[in-house]
Amino acid sequence: MDIKPLLSNNALSMRRSQIRDLLSVATRPEIISFAGGFPNPDTFPLEELKEIVQEVLEKDGNAALQYGSTDGVISLRQEISKLYKREENLDIPVDHIQITTASQQALDLISRIFINPGDVVVCGLPSYLGALQAFWSYQGQPYGLRHNNGLDEACNVLCATGKKPKFLYSIPDFQNPSGETMTLEEREYVVEVARKYDLLIVEDTPYKNIRFSGEKLPSMYSMAPERVMMLGTFSKTFVPGFRLGWIVAEPTILDRINVAKQSADLCTPAFSQLVAAKYLASGAYDENLKKTCALYKRKKDLMVKSFEEYMPEGVKWTNPEGGLFLFLKLPKKYDTRELFDIAIKENVAFVIGEAFHSDGSGKNTMRLNFSFATDEKIVEGVKRLANAIRQLYAKYGN
Ligand SMILES: Cc1ncc(COP(=O)(O)O)c(C=O)c1O
Repeated sequence: MDIKPLLSNNALSMRRSQIRDLLSVATRPEIISFAGGFPNPDTFPLEELKEIVQEVLEKDGNAALQYGSTDGVISLRQEISKLYKREENLDIPVDHIQITTASQQALDLISRIFINPGDVVVCGLPSYLGALQAFWSYQGQPYGLRHNNGLDEACNVLCATGKKPKFLYSIPDFQNPSGETMTLEEREYVVEVARKYDLLIVEDTPYKNIRFSGEKLPSMYSMAPERVMMLGTFSKTFVPGFRLGWIVAEPTILDRINVAKQSADLCTPAFSQLVAAKYLASGAYDENLKKTCALYKRKKDLMVKSFEEYMPEGVKWTNPEGGLFLFLKLPKKYDTRELFDIAIKENVAFVIGEAFHSDGSGKNTMRLNFSFATDEKIVEGVKRLANAIRQLYAKYGN
């Protein structure tokens, strides 16, 4: 049956993730993949979780296996509130926290309640592909900004042409994919512009607590809680398999989110929420996160050192103070899509930077993940990638 004529306009405006498609090639065992945003499984606290799972089933089995409330298990929301107090000295009441089926669902629900067809959402150039996909799914139009300092002018022009943005989407800490972190002044400026044009901000913070060096900076939520929806997730700091995330926002916003979530999945599984709550309460989360940061710092340093050793001239890379990614740039005339095909033949994979640029730019860029591969594979994979880049250069007579 031909279903195309039956598809909704929303379905037709959805875009397939190039990352997921590329990942299907990158899973071949001979390929060293720097493509996915995967945490390292060595950081998963398997032994502790075995005990906690047993305890939850013995003491709380009925609640764990039953439907839960849409807003989330209270003990987990309390633990998240305590986490903000410990980590950022923020007082967040439990009724300002909505549990979501990880932060990808938060992006979907926010898009669902705010975006009408044609609505503009201001985001970075580059920006997280999964967020762009959520905006496109509801026929939103991402408006990519390369530099934050152009925000005031962009909003001015958009408002003057009847395209006032529905919200600003930002990943202020160790951005995916660029690894960049917004300075305090940039955060204050974005909040000021949001106030000037009366805009909402979606502050997406999956990497905030994966910091290797430098000072933690205040969230935009702490500066303007009335207009910021702050997204959190346990995917990068704990385990992605539990699919646990949350939104911190005003109850008036969360009430709408809650109704949207009811038709999406009724509730996030109570089982994983109860296990996570117990794990956080035990104090092991904070300890484990320290080890995770130390491991990722070592891997990031190793990848940067390998770049210095093996990369041909003209390749530039970031050296972020945290997160999971390095962002590389080739000289302007090269296309990393072409490089990708050569790299796959060399048995190494990455994500082409163009996938993160809503305007189709960034063709000479690419994202590499350093958290997942073993140390040996990091060095070997960089050698292979450097070799692939040399082949690309040679093709164009460089
Ligand atoms: C910026 C950003 N937001 C959201 C997500 C989604 O994460 P999850 O749904 O696992 O919480 C990711 C995952 O890589 C991300 O990088």
